[in-house]
Amino acid sequence: MRILAIETSCDETAVALLSGEGDVLMVHENAIASQAAEHAKYGGVVPEVAARRHVDALFPLLEAAGVPRDGKGIDAIAVTAGPGLVPALRIGVEAAKTLSYLWKKPLVPVNHLEGHLYSVWLEQQVPAFPALALLVSGGHTELILMRGHGEYELLGKTRDDAAGEAFDKGAKLLGLEYPGGPNVSKLAQKGNPHAIEFPRPMLESGDLDFSFSGLKTAVAVYVREHPEARREDVCASLEEAVADILVQKTMTAVQQTQPASVILCGGVSANRVLRERLAESVAQIDGITFHIPDLAYTGDNAAMIAAAGYFRFRSGQTVNPLLLAADPNMKLAERV
Ligand code: KG4
Ligand code: ZN
Repeated sequence: MRILAIETSCDETAVALLSGEGDVLMVHENAIASQAAEHAKYGGVVPEVAARRHVDALFPLLEAAGVPRDGKGIDAIAVTAGPGLVPALRIGVEAAKTLSYLWKKPLVPVNHLEGHLYSVWLEQQVPAFPALALLVSGGHTELILMRGHGEYELLGKTRDDAAGEAFDKGAKLLGLEYPGGPNVSKLAQKGNPHAIEFPRPMLESGDLDFSFSGLKTAVAVYVREHPEARREDVCASLEEAVADILVQKTMTAVQQTQPASVILCGGVSANRVLRERLAESVAQIDGITFHIPDLAYTGDNAAMIAAAGYFRFRSGQTVNPLLLAADPNMKLAERV
């Protein structure tokens, strides 16, 4: 079964072709046109600019990926329907609806966050259920218990900023370019992670929620009061604080829910310190497997949307292409 996927929720236009058999997936094409350099000028993503760039990039990208113009050989079309920036989401959704309508192929709406979860299936990994997922991106920080395909329970989430925002806002305060995460992480390699003791909010909260806005304030205050501070040390200490919080909360969730596997995904899962630290912690517990996406699939891409779409299509979850609308606040999991 072959799936075409389209992703335009933020600042990457992405198209993928994927085939699946049983639980095993194979990526044939994974094309991405990034607009990050364009948005760096503004210090963040500008929705209208993103939408315009998606319009320019989408059809050339479909051509570049070798998607047949008559849709031949494609069994279904998956598209990110939310959450994300409305003007951006709508470009992908309308294109997918049009292709579905003209080609008479089933249309499968996918939640962007579900795509991140399924990014680990792209490397022929098959996490056992129940799987506990730490999803860390630029807009979300969530602990999700996945009981089966499409069965999600929200265990905890951030009450304010996402983990990615802690990196992005910290980077801005230090005069580093957007997106800040990779830049902070690069400088951090040459810094001392114990140079500054930044706060670890919510570790004693007794629940599985997060809060990262205080960390941004702490960085702002520190930089103001210590103009002589080495940026490398600030970056390393910030990275250490974020990784500490994420790993500790995830391990508390592991103890509470006793999952068969742990998944780390989302843009921030590209962070080396976080990957290593969580892998070490999970390895200390017998009988649990640990899954992270290949670095090619940590950031936004359409292969992960195709993967999530494949499992949804397999369970018959298609929609009428005339009726699909982008949903900027689309929810994946609710608390039970
Ligand atoms: O999943 P993603 O590509 O887009 C969203 O769905 O939000 O995540 C982007 C986020 C940004 O905040 C970016 O700074 C962060 O992931 N990020 C990183 C790293 N690479 C990307 N954060 C820390 N370390 C990294 N190496
Ligand atoms: Zn994302």
